[in-house]
Order: sequence, then structure tokens, then C-alpha cells
Amino acid sequence: MDCVGPKFVISNETTTMKIVITKERRAHERRVAATPDTVKKFISLGFEVSVEQDAGLNSRISNEAYESAGASVSADIASLLGSADIVLKVQRPLLAGEGEINELALMKRGAMLIAMLSPYSEPAAIQQYANAGITALTLEFVPRITRAQSMDVLSSQSNLAGYRAVLEAINVYDRAMPMMMTAAGTIAPARVMVLGAGVAGLQAIATAKRLGAIVSATDVRAASKEQVESLGGKFVMVESDEVKNAETAGGYAKEMSDDYKRRQAELVAETLKKQDIAICTALIPGRKAPILINDEMVHSMRPGSVIVDLAAEQGGNCTLTKPGEVVEVNGVTIIGLFNIPSRLSADASALYAKNILNFVSPMIDADKRFAVNWQDEIIAATVLTRDNEIVHPNFKPAGAA
Ligand code: NAI
Repeated sequence: MDCVGPKFVISNETTTMKIVITKERRAHERRVAATPDTVKKFISLGFEVSVEQDAGLNSRISNEAYESAGASVSADIASLLGSADIVLKVQRPLLAGEGEINELALMKRGAMLIAMLSPYSEPAAIQQYANAGITALTLEFVPRITRAQSMDVLSSQSNLAGYRAVLEAINVYDRAMPMMMTAAGTIAPARVMVLGAGVAGLQAIATAKRLGAIVSATDVRAASKEQVESLGGKFVMVESDEVKNAETAGGYAKEMSDDYKRRQAELVAETLKKQDIAICTALIPGRKAPILINDEMVHSMRPGSVIVDLAAEQGGNCTLTKPGEVVEVNGVTIIGLFNIPSRLSADASALYAKNILNFVSPMIDADKRFAVNWQDEIIAATVLTRDNEIVHPNFKPAGAA
């Protein structure tokens, strides 16, 4: 266990550990890694907190609100990052050539970086954190154990994404969702199919049900059947012995066999023909998203139907998704927008900031000292780099101890 202070001693000088929150500079990102509420808590834990000017504006948090919570606010990004012991971010820092500044180069050696670092899609950046002497912790790797539920950024953000996906669909759907019986005639309820019934999918089911749709859902994990049905959705799934082993110990899905995929495609094709809206959320950690809707299936949907592909950033669940775009194919609108949680930035930031606070708080011991237990299951699962080296087993260079 290392002990280094919020009140710690360097060269006979007592200094306070400084947390810095910067503005997110990557495209499509409106969230921020701290709120006035979490700033106050960090200060009460003994940290000093500095926030980059305007970091919260896209989440409706003013500079004054951070100042009232006790943070200092500055526009000088170089001195902010250069003085930070801990940098909190939503997305990974900008590297050379990735934007207006090189955020990583501005950080001091030995600083800790906590963010969603997308290690599987950006493995090359990990070596750069090591080279820069940064201790990088990635929040997507927080294990799904009871103690870590309040730190689980994938759940907090996916939940909002599932809700918003339904609203994105409705926005372009030129019919009503609920059944309406009026003097002028009856409107049939919309039929919504949710592909992937994890955190986002279950929230999409709940949202579509609340709006009066008839909802069905599919998944490869048998455990999701009960959850779908408890929300009033109809569960459709390929019956196979394979589903008994479709879930990892961490609760995630595995890649299925070619035979399973073929049978699943037949089932989805049959169901999808009768749907008005499809919400795709199926993901397999560390891999490209599974293809669940092919060209032919899109063509089988009636004009005016909508597909929202939340897996767009991982390649998409639909073959005709254009990642980052909204396209129309034979009258079917396919929404492949990036970063859906960011479209609910105020709530997404509040939950994300709380997740980070809950992640950092256990690093402080009873004597208000910063004491990271590197052997702790949660920390060990999330540390990518430390002491100038890549330490995460999934990313260590071949041959490294
Ligand atoms: P995810 O975002 O990795 O995947 C979304 C969904 O897609 C999952 O339900 C997955 O089974 C499904 N999927 C993957 N491949 C598929 C395919 N070929 N066809 C159809 N569906 C496919 O997973 P997510 O939503 O982050 O979590 C999955 C589960 O983890 C949750 O439903 C829950 O049971 C568990 N969980 C546990 C937590 C805890 O114990 N602290 C917290 C959050 C989730």
C-alpha cells in the first residue's frame, strides 16, 4: 500500500493533493467528470480541486457553481494539468496530433489519470501513458461486484443511453407509440424490438413500455429472460445448450458459434419484419459488436420504421448503420449517432461524477492519507499503467513479466 497524502510531505513541505477536472475536448462529448456536489465531497476528503474554465457549461454547470463548491477555476490548461496529482476526465486525454493541444504531454510524471480510456479500441495510447509516467486507471474495467456497483460507469451511462435511444427513435418515427382509439379511427400501438437486453436494453424496454409500445427483446444470456418479462416485454431467444455458457463470470456475453448465429439470424429476421422500431444494444467487451440485423432484414421492414444502433461505436449491430450518422435506406431510418449518454449531459455527468467520487473515496484512509491498495480487486482490475510500465495483464507487451 502506498501512502502519499492528501496532506503529505515532500521535501519537508506539506502540500495538499490536487484534483484537476478539465474540459472535455473530444468530438460529441458534452459531459464533465465532476459536479459541484462531488467537488464539495472531494474537498471534505482533504483534496484541493481545480476546474478548467467552462468545463461544465455543456452539462449546465457554471464556473460560479464550481467556485461556490470550493474549487478554483482557471483557463490555464497547461498549469492546471502540470500541477495535478489526479486528473479526472470522461474520455481519454488528447494525444499529439489528436486536437488543439496534447493533454497527456501537459500532465506531470507520476500523476494519476482516471477516465473511460477505451483501452480495447485505443491500445496504442496505453504505451503512451506508461512512457509519460502516468498511472492510468480505466473505469470501464471496474468489476461487476456488489461493492463496486456505485462505481459502475458502464451501467450508469448505458441506462441513460437506453432511455434516450427510444426518444431518438420517436423523434423520427412519424407515427404514435401508444394505441389511441379516437372518433376519427384507431391508431395501432408501435411494435418495438430490443436486441441485447443488458443495462441499456432493459431501460429501452421500460421506456418503450411506458410510452405504450408492444415490446419484444432478445439476448444470448438466458438470465435476461426473467428481467425482460418483469418489464412486460416478450422474450424471444434461440433455444440451445450453448446459452448455458453464453455469460462470462463478469456477467457479459460471449461470442456465439456460427450455428447459433445462423439460427439467431432466422429468429431475428422473422420477428423484425413485424416491428416498427428496433433498438440495438448488443455488445461483447473487447470485440466488434455482433451483427444482428443484415441488409435483407432492413429491407424487410416497412417504410417509416426506425433502427437505433447503440452499438455504432463498436461497429454496429446492423450492417447498414453508418457510425456517427443518421441514414435512410428504403424508407427505414437508421440512427448510428455516437455518444448517446452525452445527449443527456446534465444527468450523465451527475451520475458519472458520482461514480468517480465513489471510486476515489476508498483510496483515502482513516487518517485522511491517500493510500491506494494496489492489490484491491477493483483497483487491480482498472490499473493500466504504473511506474512507467503497462501493468494490466490484457495489455502487457508479449514477454513482459
Ligand atoms: P453489454 O453492454 O456488454 O451488452 C449488452 C447486451 O447485449 C448484454 O445483455 C449482452 O448479453 C447482449 N448481447 C451480446 N451479444 C449478443 C448477441 N449476439 N445477441 C443478442 N444479445 C447480445 O452488457 P451490459 O448491459 O453492460 O451488462 C450485461 C449484464 O451484466 C446485465 O444485464 C447484468 O445482468 C449484469 N450487470 C451486473 C452488474 C452488477 O452486478 N454490478 C451491473 C451491471 C450489469
